[in-house]
Amino acid sequence: MSDLNGRVIVLGVSGGIAAYKSVELLRALQKKGADVFVVMTENALKFVGELTFQAISKHSVYTDVMKEDTPDKIRHIDLAEKADGVVIAPATANIIGKIANGIADDALSTMIMAVKAPVMICPAMNSWMYESRAVQRNLDTLSEDGFHIIDPDEGYLACNVTGPGRLPEPYYIADRVEAMLVRKDFKEKKVLVTAGPTVEPIDPVRFISNHSSGKMGYKIAEAFEKRGAKVTLVSGPVAIDPPYNTEVVNIKTADEMLLKCQERMENIDIIVKVAAVADYKIKNRAEHKIKKSEGGLDLVLEENPDIIKTLGKLKKPGQIFVGFAAETRDLEQNALKKLESKNLDMIVANEISGKNSAFGAEENKVTIFTKNMAPKILDMMDKKVLADLILDSILEIENDR
Ligand code: CTP
Repeated sequence: MSDLNGRVIVLGVSGGIAAYKSVELLRALQKKGADVFVVMTENALKFVGELTFQAISKHSVYTDVMKEDTPDKIRHIDLAEKADGVVIAPATANIIGKIANGIADDALSTMIMAVKAPVMICPAMNSWMYESRAVQRNLDTLSEDGFHIIDPDEGYLACNVTGPGRLPEPYYIADRVEAMLVRKDFKEKKVLVTAGPTVEPIDPVRFISNHSSGKMGYKIAEAFEKRGAKVTLVSGPVAIDPPYNTEVVNIKTADEMLLKCQERMENIDIIVKVAAVADYKIKNRAEHKIKKSEGGLDLVLEENPDIIKTLGKLKKPGQIFVGFAAETRDLEQNALKKLESKNLDMIVANEISGKNSAFGAEENKVTIFTKNMAPKILDMMDKKVLADLILDSILEIENDR
């Protein structure tokens, strides 16, 4: 479930070579549940056929201000009014110049003039054009006027030049369009999230660990980022792409996780400790690969530091600490004990018995315990939706102070 679900997005396509990527962007926006209407400039039509966008969007494509198919509507005003958000990709130097200087002389620039919803501009052109004073000046103007600018990628361009100017990947742009529409209720908050398992080596080739996939922690980091926070994600080894616009610190052991968290604690407003930290590490860790021998092998385990408890001792007024608890029984009793002993403000507890194992799943069922509020027993739900509810509860704690 995406924040674009059921939203109307207008996709503006101007005449650059990257216009073919806009077809993929249209699909990426639709995959997030958006209803997409396409507006094309005359030059864009020379790169990609209008029929392609019409067939995929299931709406007629708007290309000509002087051609109104439905007399009861003025199309550029109608589109501007129904848009929850607009993205122009690719945005050529020409359309950037027009919008920055208030020129409205074609379908796209005329529609943009009337839009009240947030607009994202994705410049894509030759590097020298992109770096020109005129384009940079126009982009600065657009930024000051409240437009969201997505920097182009660097790479080998159609004009045989290598440098900035490439349209970023459609899935990235779609993600940023989603972020643009999300409420920014964590703006400027500094958040530290830990996720995934820790891995404790036995020898150079073997380790002990647990089944944590990292999905819940990554969804929480993504939700914070989209809601405006500056996020650091300290992550154990997982098979998930790093979230956009987030500082990702990769670690393996609990000791490393503690160190990286300690280094970053100073200015943190909120810490959410989702990681499934291994409680024990190997005391007699071997420097070389342990050879097979008869009679078995004894491993001596020693306790790992309790990271959140250690950090909790340094907790400053105003900081919010959130922990997770995985329990196979006595959920409430164990969760409340951890809330107290680890000096937490909130604990998200899930029962991992039987079919309810959250490990690796797309869904999770939890109960949220706080110090002052009644427990929230939530239904089984998608981890992305749950992440937003957890963030809502964190806001409640903040507002309660
Ligand atoms: N935690 C931690 N450091 C550890 C162990 C746990 O910071 N060495 C954090 C987890 O990230 C989580 C919370 O403490 O936010 C609870 O983790 P959990 O494994 O449920 O609890 P434990 O304290 O390890 O207790 P037990 O395993 O006995 O249930």
